[in-house]
Amino acid sequence: MTSNTKKLFIKTYGCQMNVYDSQRMADVLAPIGYEVSQDMDDADMVILNTCHIREKAAEKVYSELGRIRPLQDRKAEGGGRMLVAVAGCVAQAEGEEIMARAPQVDMVFGPQTYHRLPEMIAQASRAAGEKVLDTDFPVEDKFDFLPEETKVDGVTGFLTIQEGCDKFCTFCVVPYTRGAEASRSPQSIIDEARRMVAAGLREVTLLGQNVNAYHGEGADGKEWGLGRLVRALADVDGLERIRYTTSHPRDMDDDLIRAHGEVPQLMPYLHLPVQSGSDRMLEAMNRKHTADDYFRLVDKLREARPDLALSSDFIVGFPGETDQDFADTIKLVQKVGYDAGAFSFKYSARPGTPAAAVEDQLSEAVKDERLKGLQQLLEAQQAAFNQSMPGKTIPVLFEKKGRMPGQLVGRSPYLQPVHIDGPDRLIGSIIECRITETKGHSLFGEPVMAGSEDEPLERKRALA
Ligand code: SAH
Ligand code: SF4
Ligand code: F3S
Repeated sequence: MTSNTKKLFIKTYGCQMNVYDSQRMADVLAPIGYEVSQDMDDADMVILNTCHIREKAAEKVYSELGRIRPLQDRKAEGGGRMLVAVAGCVAQAEGEEIMARAPQVDMVFGPQTYHRLPEMIAQASRAAGEKVLDTDFPVEDKFDFLPEETKVDGVTGFLTIQEGCDKFCTFCVVPYTRGAEASRSPQSIIDEARRMVAAGLREVTLLGQNVNAYHGEGADGKEWGLGRLVRALADVDGLERIRYTTSHPRDMDDDLIRAHGEVPQLMPYLHLPVQSGSDRMLEAMNRKHTADDYFRLVDKLREARPDLALSSDFIVGFPGETDQDFADTIKLVQKVGYDAGAFSFKYSARPGTPAAAVEDQLSEAVKDERLKGLQQLLEAQQAAFNQSMPGKTIPVLFEKKGRMPGQLVGRSPYLQPVHIDGPDRLIGSIIECRITETKGHSLFGEPVMAGSEDEPLERKRALA
């Protein structure tokens, strides 16, 4: 590190879009001398990239700020300065409050303004005590201003293609923190994917709060749906696997469903949140579909891709949820079967959302009990799927070294971690592996060799 290099520490909370944003913040700051560091203690700048989706997420930010305070003081005693920024969805929702409650914070900015970070830093550095609050939804699109990504971390990565949400589910803060739905152009996405592949990427996960609402405008002036984008990305040489998250059941169009059957690079794993199995709750949540609609959709998807492993999100204890409503959720889970596990959350009243104002809020005890019941069922479904794997041969993309010497870890098409003993040179390759054992959420296996040479089958095929 040269003496001009400044240390940047970013802590990321929340969803994968925040992970992507944090990387892009680092890209914005690299040209002005900031280098990412894993160590907060003597950083020149600390960014907390925050999440507002449930209560605890925001509380964590304030306690983290409490821990940073003494580090800032120590840095100041040494004649330096540690700039502290709060970014992301808490910043967008509670910017003013953060400024008032935590005077140590120099900058507050939302998910749509971080391309302006260099100006914000200049402003905050001019005089101690000058604070920056930048939480407007700008007219310009940050993607038009962000520099090209500076590096790719490993063989898998995220690429944001769509942002924001116009759906206004009654429990959710996202439409307020991320703003209106907007799609990037197909060309800028394809270009970014090409650069990522050139830097070593093999698998991309396309991101959006409603990623399948994607409707980017192509160079021909036509709107592209996600199905068309996936097909175009499948043509990028060297991009071997494509995933996308998070999708909304209402935006699952026929072309995208067909793509699941037709595009080999599109992995047979789908996160398709449903939240509840009760039509009454779905309506109160403003999800705008019924449980039956969801069943029909799952049938269509499985028709297109029979081995599709499904995952989902559930909320238990939504205001007014009765035992019968909850039983309907359990019924839905039993009927659909979530091989890839699913996330379940206790409803958390978020300030400013319609559901928070409803009087019929449930007790924590009821929420806890329902959460436990649902999680047990989901856990059992996932375990059964994992236990069905031994004896099967599946392609595994190896991502990194495992914890044990000589061990490698990769992912199955269904996103399960797979461990094998093998040489490091296999990192970045897709190898056919026979699964020998399941332990917890992990699979263990061995590469399938063809003939006597130490050459995995898939490589042989590629060379043939
Ligand atoms: N756009 C996605 C969800 C994004 S938020 C969709 O529509 O499905 C991720 C998940 O957080 C949601 O699916 C929901 O299960 C959960 N969530 C959002 N708001 C919540 C709240 N107020 N309380 C509890 N869980 C919540
Ligand atoms: Fe939130 Fe998803 Fe509903 Fe949008 S569609 S409001 S992101 S839960
Ligand atoms: Fe959280 Fe914002 Fe993502 S609220 S879940 S970081 S969009």
